[in-house]
Amino acid sequence: MKSLLGVKGETPLGEKKEVTGEVLAIRGGRPLTGRVEVKGAKNLATKAMVAALLGETPSVLRDVPDISDVQVVRSLLEVHGVTVRDGEDEGTLHLDPAGAVSAHFEEIDAHAGASRIPILFCGPLLHLLGEALIPDLGGCRIGDRPINFHMDALRAFGAVVDKSYEGIRITAPNGLHGASIELPYPSVGATEQVLLTAVRAKGITELRNAAIEPEIMDLIAVLQKMGAIISYEPNRVILIEGVDSLRGYDHRCIFDRNEAASWACAALATDGDIFVGGAKQQEMLTFLNVFRKAGGWFDIHEDGIQFRRDGAVKPVIVETDVHPGFMTDWQQPLIVALTQAQGESIVHETVYENRLGFTEALVHMGADIVVHPDGIASPDRRVPRRALEQAAVINGPTPLRAAEVEVPDLRGGYSYVIAALAAEGESIVSNVGIIRRGYEKFFAKLDALGADFDVIG
Ligand code: EPU
Repeated sequence: MKSLLGVKGETPLGEKKEVTGEVLAIRGGRPLTGRVEVKGAKNLATKAMVAALLGETPSVLRDVPDISDVQVVRSLLEVHGVTVRDGEDEGTLHLDPAGAVSAHFEEIDAHAGASRIPILFCGPLLHLLGEALIPDLGGCRIGDRPINFHMDALRAFGAVVDKSYEGIRITAPNGLHGASIELPYPSVGATEQVLLTAVRAKGITELRNAAIEPEIMDLIAVLQKMGAIISYEPNRVILIEGVDSLRGYDHRCIFDRNEAASWACAALATDGDIFVGGAKQQEMLTFLNVFRKAGGWFDIHEDGIQFRRDGAVKPVIVETDVHPGFMTDWQQPLIVALTQAQGESIVHETVYENRLGFTEALVHMGADIVVHPDGIASPDRRVPRRALEQAAVINGPTPLRAAEVEVPDLRGGYSYVIAALAAEGESIVSNVGIIRRGYEKFFAKLDALGADFDVIG
């Protein structure tokens, strides 16, 4: 594979097709019942690992999920000279950046896999070494996923961005200084980029239109433990006062609310009953409201949340949005459950332009889903329309039938497995390895919930 990034502006030329193998034969038609545990959030753990690069002393991160995205960041840190060691407790990582060094494009590329995380190394590497290299970026194939907000923010801090056939080389010949930045959209990654860069930049940074997802608040907590001065102001404004040095942290990751929501939808889709250990209410308020309206029942416990149906599945109208809206990551498993609702549901996808493509396979399995590629306007919409949005209209209930399907991306892949578990007959689901990017012990959890499946390839 060779990077084409930089040949055509700052947009990676298409996403890498991720093939990780593994084929499941799934015999559906049985409810998923039992208990699963969720650990730390993928979308926090990987960023907190990068933050360890900023510390002058080692860091300890707890409740880190055993997923391939974490393995990718671990090996990226290691090629940059960071020592990463497993602690005695499961899920604990010790990260020592004392020996941090530059890496080459090829090394970064070889270890980055399909991950988009290398881009978040920029700020810390610029502070530490004065240079950062970004090869082609992966991530789920759910849209263009450009990096222009990241590059514009880095330039505002005083970084110089050079493109070559190998990728992007970023330097800071005069150091990095605080900046006034307004994001065109409250991007999660670009907000993290600004945080990880501003904490050690000289002076004050004001970030407007910032993303405020719970995982970002947890990253701010990590950085504050390291000695950063960050305040969260009203109206999506974050102020960061740069400091001369930071120390290591000891932090337990926030739980993975995306995984928790996925299992909740699995309970709804298969008419099961799933207790998700480690799930918490506060970070899931928006999801729980929609889950209830869709005919779900939940019970909040000290140590988790129990999810099941409350009678029939009901149709809902949902718009994905940045936090505190309904997360884009939740819509894919929800759509599987909505195929079983009596009536018409609409899911407006406003964050990514290609996150409804996965529904094609559900149609193949018997679902009645029509995707409107340019979205559907409606005066009742809560989210301002975006140029790239799409909408899916789901009419149910439709029995799902077994089929052969190939996993396209992380959340879509999870949804295919759940659809196969809800369908009558034996489905063959290939490229299931992708699911391990974000779901720890996936097969073991399916097994614990009584799923009937074999790994056949
Ligand atoms: N965008 C730009 N330019 C940029 C950056 C983003 O136009 O430079 C656009 C994107 O194309 C998209 C929107 O802004 O339309 C939002 O993207 P964002 O930057 O918020 O997403 P991200 O940081 O790349 C993270 C999660 C995603 C999650 C989104 C939204 C990680 C590693 N990934 O992506 O998680 O869907 O935020 O919450 O944190 C997943 O877990 O399956 C996943 C895809």
